[in-house]
Amino acid sequence: MLNMGAVLLLLIGVTDGVTTFCDATQPRIPTQCSGSLGGTAEVLLTTRTSQDHYYVLMKNRARLQANIRYSFNVGTGIFTIKDIDRTDNGEYSMEVYTAAGTVVARCYLTIQAPVSSPLLSRKCLSRGQQRVSCSAGGDGLHYSWSLDGLPMNDPRLLSGPGSASDVTLEPGRSGLLTCSVRNNVSNATANITLSVCDGVTTFCDATQPRVTTQCFGSLGGTAEVLLTTRTSQDHYYVLMKNRARLQANIRYSFNVGTGIFTIKDIDRTDNGEYSMKVYTAAGRVVARCYLTIQAPVSSPLLSRECLSRGQQRVSCSAGGDGLHYSWSLDGLPMNDTRLLSGPGSASDVTLEPGRSGLLTCSVRNNVSHAAANITLSVCDGLIPFIARSLTVVLLLLAALGVYWALKKKKTSSPRDIALSSMAVDDGVLYGNVSGATGRAGGE
Ligand SMILES: *[C@@H]1O[C@H](CO)[C@@H](O)[C@H](O)[C@H]1NC(C)=O
Ligand SMILES: *[C@@H]1O[C@H](CO)[C@@H](O)[C@H](O)[C@H]1NC(C)=O
Ligand SMILES: *[C@@H]1O[C@H](CO)[C@@H](O)[C@H](O)[C@H]1NC(C)=O
Ligand SMILES: *[C@@H]1O[C@H](CO)[C@@H](O)[C@H](O)[C@H]1NC(C)=O
Ligand SMILES: *[C@@H]1O[C@H](CO)[C@@H](O)[C@H](O)[C@H]1NC(C)=O
Ligand SMILES: *[C@@H]1O[C@H](CO)[C@@H](O)[C@H](O)[C@H]1NC(C)=O
Repeated sequence: MLNMGAVLLLLIGVTDGVTTFCDATQPRIPTQCSGSLGGTAEVLLTTRTSQDHYYVLMKNRARLQANIRYSFNVGTGIFTIKDIDRTDNGEYSMEVYTAAGTVVARCYLTIQAPVSSPLLSRKCLSRGQQRVSCSAGGDGLHYSWSLDGLPMNDPRLLSGPGSASDVTLEPGRSGLLTCSVRNNVSNATANITLSVCDGVTTFCDATQPRVTTQCFGSLGGTAEVLLTTRTSQDHYYVLMKNRARLQANIRYSFNVGTGIFTIKDIDRTDNGEYSMKVYTAAGRVVARCYLTIQAPVSSPLLSRECLSRGQQRVSCSAGGDGLHYSWSLDGLPMNDTRLLSGPGSASDVTLEPGRSGLLTCSVRNNVSHAAANITLSVCDGLIPFIARSLTVVLLLLAALGVYWALKKKKTSSPRDIALSSMAVDDGVLYGNVSGATGRAGGE
C-alpha cells in the first residue's frame, strides 16, 4: 500500500495543471471565478469557521452532488475542485448557518482551457512591411505585443491594432518581437527576432544568345536582370514584355550603362517573358528571359508528435511558392533510412525510435530560404498508455481506501474531507462538519 501511494503521488504530480484561487466571500454579489481545464480551482467560500456552524454547498441552486474531485476544508473555508472539466462550469454557493443568522457566499466558476505555448511566423509584405502571426491554443485569448521590451501600441510601429493575433509592422522595424497571450487562468509568451524586410533582391544573367533564360523574382522584392553587355550611346534599345512593347511603369528601370533591367515591388503581374532588342552598327542582338514570380519562404514552424512504438513525427510548415524541404539532425543531413521512415525531402518526417538531438528543417525555393530548429527528446511509446491506465486504477483504489478509512474511524477524521465520502450517509450533506476532532458525515 505504501509503494502504491508513492506511485499515485508521482502520477498525480505529472498531470497537475494550473491552480487558480478566488475569494468569493463578498456578501450579496456573486463573484466571477475562473478554473483551468485539467487544473485545480480553490474558492474561498467562507471566513466564518467554527465547530458550531452548519455548511451547505450548492451548485446551480441544487445540493452539490458527491464527487471525488471536490473537497471543502472547514478550517480554511476553501472549496477545492481538482482535475477540472467543462462540467464544472456553473454557480456555486455556500450557506453557513451561524447563531447570528445565515451567511451566503456565491461564485460563478468559468472553466477555460489554459494557454498553450504560442507559435510565431513572419512574412515580408510589399513595400518593406512585415506581418507576424502568433497562434496559441486556449479559451478567451488576449494578445499583446512588444518590440525590444516596449509595448507596441504606437501607430508609427504598426498598421492596425496591437491586440490582434496578427500584427503588420511598418517598414524598417527590427528587433526582438514578443507575443504575449493570456486568458483568465494562464499566460504564455514567444519571441521572434526580426530583421528589416526590404524584400529579396534576385539577380539573373539573361545575356546568353538564342535561349530564353529562366529568371525568378520574389513577391514584394526586386529583380535585376542583365539584358545586354553591349552598351554604347549609339545603340538603340527596345524592351518587350510578352512580345509587346513594355508599358511605362514607375517600378521598372533600365540602366544603359550596366545593361541591367530592374523591377521593384514585384507583384504577380510581373510574371512573363521579357526581351531586349539592341540595334547596333553590326546588327541586332536579342536577350530573352522568362521571369517567374515566387512568394519568398516565411520562417518555418515546427511541431512534434510522439507516435506509438517510440517513433516521432515532426512537421515543418512554411509559407511561399515552390518549396523544397530538407532536414538535418545535429548538423548531419537526414538521408539515412536508419533515421527515417519515408523520404527526407517531405514537409513531414517520421523518425525511427530512440532519436534525439537538434533537428533542423531547411526550406528553400528559387528566391529565398529559411530554417527552423527543434530539440527532440526520445519518445517513449509504452509509458504514457500504462501510466494512464494505472492512474485510473490507482485513483479508484485510493477512493475506496479513503471511503473505508472514514467508515471505520469515525472518531478521528482529517480536516480536509473528500465530499464523496461525506455523501454516503444521508441527504444533509455538510451538517456540523467540524475541525480536527469532529465527525465526518451527516446529521
Ligand atoms: C477575465 O479576463 C477578462 C479580460 O482580461 C476580464 O475582463 C475579466 O474580468 C476576467 N474575468 C475574471 C473572472 O477574472
Ligand atoms: C503569468 O503567469 C504567471 C504564473 O505562471 C504569473 O506569475 C504572472 O503574473 C502572469 N502574468 C500576467 C500578465 O498575467
Ligand atoms: C523572450 O525574450 C525575453 C527578453 O529577452 C525573455 O525574458 C523571455 O524569457 C523570452 N521568452 C521566451 C518564451 O523565450
Ligand atoms: C547523405 O548525404 C551526404 C551528403 O549530402 C552523402 O555524403 C551521403 O552519402 C548520403 N547518405 C546516403 C545514405 O544517401
Ligand atoms: C529552382 O529551384 C529548384 C529546386 O530548388 C531547382 O531544382 C531549380 O534548378 C531552380 N531553378 C533555377 C532556374 O534556379
Ligand atoms: C539552428 O541551430 C543551428 C546550430 O545550433 C544554428 O546555427 C542556427 O542558427 C539555428 N537556426 C535557427 C533558425 O534557429
